[in-house]
Amino acid sequence: MNPAELVVAPSILAADFAYLADAARAVEGVADWLHVDVMDNHFVPNLTIGLPVVRSLLQATAIPFDIHLMITDPRRWAPEYAEAGAYNVTFHAEACDDPVALAKDLRAAGSRAGLAIDRDTPIEPYLDLLPHLDTLLIMTIKAGFGGQRFMPELLSKVRAARQRVAAEGLQIRIEVDGGIADDTIAQAAEAGADAFVAGTAVYGVPDAAEAVRRLRALAEGAQR
Ligand code: DX5
Ligand code: ZN
Repeated sequence: MNPAELVVAPSILAADFAYLADAARAVEGVADWLHVDVMDNHFVPNLTIGLPVVRSLLQATAIPFDIHLMITDPRRWAPEYAEAGAYNVTFHAEACDDPVALAKDLRAAGSRAGLAIDRDTPIEPYLDLLPHLDTLLIMTIKAGFGGQRFMPELLSKVRAARQRVAAEGLQIRIEVDGGIADDTIAQAAEAGADAFVAGTAVYGVPDAAEAVRRLRALAEGAQR
């Protein structure tokens, strides 16, 4: 895929967990990445799926996996997702005291490395780390649950990151996650995001593939 193009990543958190393979196949050919939210009931109150389910799901689809780890001990678990075949593995800044070391481990294990910044975490301390990362995930909600209201005030972090990426000519995706839908994706694209996670907006409507196409068109129309 051309890195200049934007990425749409449906989040299976909003799909029917009894039919995850069907949810993945429903967006094959239209989605760039499949966003998989791993929650451990410690870092966030919610609990979802872990490695065994991810391993099985990887066999069921050809879409590159974007793993979003909302867990307390990413250094213990993140490389295993890379080894299992995930395309990108993102861990939270709030859960890791040495993000550069973990990013290095992830790349060595065969995936891209992503750092996630939750709602209440400032971006500034992490801007110097961008050259060591492939993806910067900026939450546009508080991590933990789907279906929350998009928080436009968090886009100031996207603007700050985009500014730094442009100033230094870095190759990194700036991804937004939370409340991304038809009425919010343009603002996020204008702020400088080029990867968009959408759960409810894709799997909460009857035609998931059509929702992905529509989101992509809206983001492309707004990209600066
Ligand atoms: C929540 C997850 C999101 C979630 C987004 O912590 O990280 O990926 O699926 O869901 P929506 O798009 O419904 O806000
Ligand atoms: Zn997520």
